[in-house]
Amino acid sequence: MLCWAAVEDSVYVEAGEIGRGLGRALLEKVIARCGELGYRQMVAVIGGRETLGSIRLHERLGFAHMGVLPAVGFKFGRWIDIIMMQRELGPGADTPPDAAAPGAAPTG
Ligand SMILES: CC(C)(COP(=O)(O)OP(=O)(O)OC[C@H]1O[C@@H](n2cnc3c(N)ncnc32)[C@H](O)[C@@H]1OP(=O)(O)O)[C@@H](O)C(=O)NCCC(=O)NCCS
Repeated sequence: MLCWAAVEDSVYVEAGEIGRGLGRALLEKVIARCGELGYRQMVAVIGGRETLGSIRLHERLGFAHMGVLPAVGFKFGRWIDIIMMQRELGPGADTPPDAAAPGAAPTG
């Protein structure tokens, strides 16, 4: 039986509101709620090394750098790297998934 207990987050703040703490407040809520739902890992897939704000936001909230996929996309005339980041939710991998949690529903 395979259980998927990971989610990907994606956070966007309107251009005029950037840098006022909204991204942090929003992602903190998303992390807390996903942990409550029984998910055990959260993954961020960040396009482009120039997205420093997103990288810093995730670092501040406990995400670790998991690797870089170089030149997997092409946008605005140049190749784009993907930065992978990840953090545990709740007990992480210390205990088996909660069978009642939506994030741990068996898929096969
Ligand atoms: C990434 C994004 C969501 C951050 O939201 P935000 O409201 O501007 O971020 P906050 O003001 O809450 O800052 C959160 C933390 O990251 C840091 N940070 C944010 N932008 C930064 C930057 N450009 N350089 C350095 N640090 C930065 C802040 O200092 C803050 O740290 P602290 O809480 O320890 O002081 C926002 O910039 C955005 O929407 N960017 C475009 C879309 C995007 O890239 N989305 C991510 C897809 S995964």
